[in-house]
Amino acid sequence: MCGIIGFNGSVNAAPFLIDGLKKLEYRGYDSAGIAVYNGNKTVTEKRKGRISNLASAVKRRDDMCGNLGIGHTRWATHGEANDSNAHPHKSGKFTLVHNGIIENHTLLKEKYLPLCTFTSETDTETVVHLINRHYSDNCLEAIARTAKLLEGSFALAIICEDEPETIFCVKKSSPLLIGIGNEATVASDISAISCKAEKLYRMDDGEIAAVTKTQAVFYDFDLNIKEKATSQFSAERSESEKNGYEHYMLKEIFEQPEAVRKTVEAYLGNKENTLPLINKPERIFIVACGSAYHAGLVGRICIEKLTKIPVTVETASEFRYSDPLTNASTPVIVISQSGETADSLAAIRKAKENGATTFGIVNVPESSIALESDYVMYTKAGTEIAVATTKAYSAQLAALYALAIHFAQIWGTEDNTVLNNLKDALGKLHIKIREALGCEEQMREIAQQLATVQNAYFIGRGIGYALAAEASLKLKEISYIHCEAYAAGELKHGTISLIEQGTKVFAVCSPNGLEAKMQSNIDEVSARGAQVIAITDSHKTKADITVHTVSATHPLFCASTQIVPLQLLAYHTAKFRGCDIDKPRNLAKSVTVE
Ligand code: M6R
Repeated sequence: MCGIIGFNGSVNAAPFLIDGLKKLEYRGYDSAGIAVYNGNKTVTEKRKGRISNLASAVKRRDDMCGNLGIGHTRWATHGEANDSNAHPHKSGKFTLVHNGIIENHTLLKEKYLPLCTFTSETDTETVVHLINRHYSDNCLEAIARTAKLLEGSFALAIICEDEPETIFCVKKSSPLLIGIGNEATVASDISAISCKAEKLYRMDDGEIAAVTKTQAVFYDFDLNIKEKATSQFSAERSESEKNGYEHYMLKEIFEQPEAVRKTVEAYLGNKENTLPLINKPERIFIVACGSAYHAGLVGRICIEKLTKIPVTVETASEFRYSDPLTNASTPVIVISQSGETADSLAAIRKAKENGATTFGIVNVPESSIALESDYVMYTKAGTEIAVATTKAYSAQLAALYALAIHFAQIWGTEDNTVLNNLKDALGKLHIKIREALGCEEQMREIAQQLATVQNAYFIGRGIGYALAAEASLKLKEISYIHCEAYAAGELKHGTISLIEQGTKVFAVCSPNGLEAKMQSNIDEVSARGAQVIAITDSHKTKADITVHTVSATHPLFCASTQIVPLQLLAYHTAKFRGCDIDKPRNLAKSVTVE
């Protein structure tokens, strides 16, 4: 994770760096720092905590004036979040920032730097000492020699007091972009590239760039110069605002109808990419992490129902290190909001090694997963800022419904009348999601009671179980209440022993013909003292509290309306508990390390 930024221009770098770091804060926010060359030497300021802490510290300094600088916002991997582990790190005349993980840092330290004094516990500090050790009078050579020794993933921005007109960049596996205009900026993503940039370069793995104010020269690790084409700017350069909402998460919950409408329109209306015509496979894999994995669980049910082809859903971190039974006739669908999740990216690569056709369902244009997939379906959620995903998850569901319908159509596995009805229902789904938002006040009241408990359980069957998993993740992620999701029939195989007087159990009753079975499970936990809150669109439960959700336009799409109250529940519970809703502790929006 972590976000890196660099500025090389004719105005003071520090304000630009701080502003850029705020845009990259979603990548990690436990500490931050900047370094500026002030005409004489490189000066550094680093602070534990949010960028605002760093900004206040920088304001108090009068020596941080200069036109060249680098900055970093951190999600700690090696060493706790504190001032000394924060980047930039310095050795001799070199100062650098790093996004990624240097896997062989201990070996490198022992072999090349046995006498060196380290001031942090980071893997990154090894890199800057190595560059300094390799340096006599040529920065590029010292950087290239070092880059060749590094294993793992790294995007580096480096400055040297001997060449204060240049930012050196190195990339392998972690993203790094360079914008050139009257000034140069480097950043982990497009949002922090200067709006004055006229040319955009996306660095490729194994590249080094020397970035002056007006140009970037690219090299491979053997220092052969490389020709490099510019990339397109995506439309997403404007900063997102809260538009009057107290938190991004709430705003994004309310943006779900639009996210779904746009996603459905792009694929059902065939406005954009026509979905690919691939041969009917033996089996389909869906691979993803976190909420995207939970969307995949719903996707499996829809695809299997409409195509009768078995679908395996796996978390990317397991898939990548397994021996997946993928081959040319088992397409692999990888779902990711950010398109940069390290495990999901590795899953795409693993699937390709085995000859599988890969589909990315991705929200961020031109992200790594989008670029590396054979086919990409963009979800149309727009920029999502809150760490807890809501609108991107809903857009992923919509994309999966469209893909399931498409597969059934091209493989002839479902009747055309059924498919036309489904398309019609999908086209109107956003209207029902908008109606579903009307439950906010009821969810706020339930949240007020939930906010005081230590544990909660979510149960469901079929799509209800997939929703229970997502609801549980959402609640624990932002409220820090311990909660678990279970297939409703599983509780009695052990977990029911945890139910006691007053334990909160949320029963997600999806319209899938298993409502009576859900009622039995509700009865079982009620009999042991649980307070049951049922989420249902029709059936009358004997729960203590019933949240009547809006019916979706088709039962197969019920996840899209039933998730809304559960998201609002998580949001309001976290708010009652005074949590940092948009930036929960220990997390980052984009998980770019494994
Ligand atoms: O960017 P991705 O969709 O690949 O991210 C996957 C997960 O890290 C993400 O869904 C995470 O679980 C969310 N924070 C949950 O709200």
